[in-house]
Amino acid sequence: MIMIKKLLGAFALALTCSAALASEGGVKLDAAPYRINNMASLQNGAKLFVNYCLSCHSANSMRYNRLTDIGLTEDEIKKNLLFTADKVGSLMTIAMRKEDSKKWFGATPPDLSVIARAKSTNFGPSGVDYIYTFLRSFYRDTNKKTGWDNAVFPSVAMPNVLWQLQGPRTYNHVTIAETEKPDGKTVWTRTSTDFDVNGFSQSKSEELQNYHGHAVNHSTFKPVDAAQTAEYDNNVADLSNFLGWMSEPAQLLRKKIGFWVLLFLGLFLVVAWRLNAAFWKDVK
Ligand code: HEC
Repeated sequence: MIMIKKLLGAFALALTCSAALASEGGVKLDAAPYRINNMASLQNGAKLFVNYCLSCHSANSMRYNRLTDIGLTEDEIKKNLLFTADKVGSLMTIAMRKEDSKKWFGATPPDLSVIARAKSTNFGPSGVDYIYTFLRSFYRDTNKKTGWDNAVFPSVAMPNVLWQLQGPRTYNHVTIAETEKPDGKTVWTRTSTDFDVNGFSQSKSEELQNYHGHAVNHSTFKPVDAAQTAEYDNNVADLSNFLGWMSEPAQLLRKKIGFWVLLFLGLFLVVAWRLNAAFWKDVK
């Protein structure tokens, strides 16, 4: 009994931890569309990755010719995707040195080979959800060095490299947080900040007298051209999907084999059950 209680306790703890991780930075992550079996989506994601990310970020565990797994031929890879290497069997490395990127951006862009797994939680949102939300949460802020900030990763050193695809947006950020006054009393303060398309911001704060709720951190983006932003979201879904695939390229094969193994076990169960009945028929 005690053992079961302990196990349940551990399970509850794991659930709380992953929920806490999911809300790191206080922002709820959007669920990325599930497209892991969609080759056109993975190919579009690979194209976007090589064109827009593989200059600052490497993918040191990935070889170009592994992209044949998502339906590309070696010729297509050579013609359309091979910019930073000359052999189709090369790893996806980059020329930028870590010390330089640290100097230029203030932080080293991480290798993205397994980023989707590094960012995933056990019971909460996946790493693909994280990347999908992260890449759609940039907003212009004139107070930042790069001219950009990010609602999921505040003060991020990465600029919004896909801004031309996304199109301009305004951003509203509302927080309700407990603050301590000089006399030691705590009060709840609601702050609403509006950023226009150029990144100029206006902020208002008010104290809430009778607030008994919890802390709030809410972001709202408004695109100027909704159709362009919807198209962008679709592309980012493909890019995130590709990063999810890259973090475990064998997952397509694993799932395929898994399906047949389970089917075999299911059929075998019936055979074993009938055989068992036939063997013992005369004994009883
Ligand atoms: C101009 C260089 C540059 C380009 C291009 C770039 N990034 Fe980044 N990226 C960075 C830097 C710098 C960081 C580290 C940010 C930090 O730690 O503040 C980063 C961090 C990240 C992270 C980790 C965020 C986290 O929560 O730790 C992800 C994911 C990411 N980039 C994805 C991408 C993708 C996908 C692309 C292509 C669309 C891309 N990046 C293009 C510079 C770049």
